[in-house]
Amino acid sequence: MATSLTLENFNMNRIQEIIKILGLLPHPEGGYYKETYRSKGYIDADSLGKNYEGKRNYSTCIYFLITSENFSAFHKINQDEIWHFHEGSTIELHTISEDGIHQKHFIGNDILNNEEPQLIVPGNHWFAGKITEPNSYALVSCTVAPGFEFKDFTLPSRKELTTLFPQHKTLIQNFTN
Ligand code: GUN
Repeated sequence: MATSLTLENFNMNRIQEIIKILGLLPHPEGGYYKETYRSKGYIDADSLGKNYEGKRNYSTCIYFLITSENFSAFHKINQDEIWHFHEGSTIELHTISEDGIHQKHFIGNDILNNEEPQLIVPGNHWFAGKITEPNSYALVSCTVAPGFEFKDFTLPSRKELTTLFPQHKTLIQNFTN
């Protein structure tokens, strides 16, 4: 008897396989990740801006996977972060600059339809994202320089972020836990 595999089942199986094969773990912002690169070299604390405490590796890179069942909650890091799309569905990514300017981007491979396979999120911008398709996922890589440390990462509460940007209350409600 032929087994019919729906797209939904195919994606759900694939998500589990990707998490297992790439060794991804839950990320505090939502989604799953694994660090794939950390340069051996260091930048001394003296050469970094005042936002950094201590030395940092030159650069780091992670795999990051979001599914329709979770989202990447609003957070910020000190570094510019470069997102590279690998496979899956479009990611809707929102950024809010330090002075409250909101921008919406679509990360994906459909270049002729306003999607960006590579997206740069400037350091200290708040950002959050989700998959627009139901029962789906996206696998990306995120590269930063100087290298990532959790001390560079801020995950605000809904209340804290809404106090900073009351004009974006609904957006913040949709992308905080
Ligand atoms: N390593 C652990 N978490 C992160 C993150 O959110 N971004 C980047 N670039 N690296 C990480």
